[in-house]
Amino acid sequence: MDGNGRWAVARGKSRTAGHLAGADAVRRTVEAAPDLGIDILTLYAFSSDNWRRPPEEVGALMRLLRRYLMAETGRCVENGVRVQVIGRRDRLASSLVREIESAERATARGEKLWLRIAVDYSARDAILRAAWRLSGGQLPGQPGNGNPADAGSAGASNAGVPHERRAPQPAAQISREEFSRLVADCPEQGAHDVDLLIRTGGEKRLSDFLLWECAYAELIFTERMWPDFGRADLEDAVLEFRHRERRFGTVPAAAAERAARSRSAITAGRDSGRNEADAEIAALAMP
Ligand code: FPP
Repeated sequence: MDGNGRWAVARGKSRTAGHLAGADAVRRTVEAAPDLGIDILTLYAFSSDNWRRPPEEVGALMRLLRRYLMAETGRCVENGVRVQVIGRRDRLASSLVREIESAERATARGEKLWLRIAVDYSARDAILRAAWRLSGGQLPGQPGNGNPADAGSAGASNAGVPHERRAPQPAAQISREEFSRLVADCPEQGAHDVDLLIRTGGEKRLSDFLLWECAYAELIFTERMWPDFGRADLEDAVLEFRHRERRFGTVPAAAAERAARSRSAITAGRDSGRNEADAEIAALAMP
């Protein structure tokens, strides 16, 4: 949700006014998402590096988040929106943490849209924490899950061994799904792969957002400043996403289809097919 500051400065307003207008864009986007077939929406509201912004701006953003939760929780319940805040909570004001917990409790049954708001979030820290817990033999769902201080308490081979001397688990012993659960800090639901990532404000980078989850995300960078973002922009992005060919490391669909046709021609033993296939294979021959 980039561009709040520039949007405000261009209008002779304070950066805080830009964030305020950004909160309206959040409302529009949350309202539009379910109609466009989006069932999980993750918004990057405050990165762990954003603490380095001027204290007045940090304070304004935190107040805005609290105000948003207070004002929108009722509407979220009505509209079937489940709210979850991801990221660290230990550095947030207790009044904000209380509001987060209350919004999460009140909206827990929402099934139309899962709205995740990233606050004091860093993807690299999430991956680091997952690796740290893994090195202590702590797998998702085991006792003590969620508290790094408990890591290793359930690993039989590491029982009683000080953390720094515990044997790390070889990578092969954990699946991507299990590691996903560690990254998401969520034993029952892993870190969902991101299908589409949209960054507004013209910058073209990920800025430590959902790095593990974005392995195969389609990226859309738009010049639109976040406060101007709305339903039409989201529709355009979804339309572009639907036209993208997602290959996940395989070959393009057309090439795959051609290869399959060649293979079936060979299996069927049809002369013309064999010739076609042989010619194709010959063309691939390396000197
Ligand atoms: C980045 O733009 C934006 C942020 C750091 C804050 C995003 C916050 C909101 C959209 C409002 C509150 C959020 C919710 C969920 C209610 P920037 O300030 O870096 O813009 P710039 O690059 O133009 O300076």
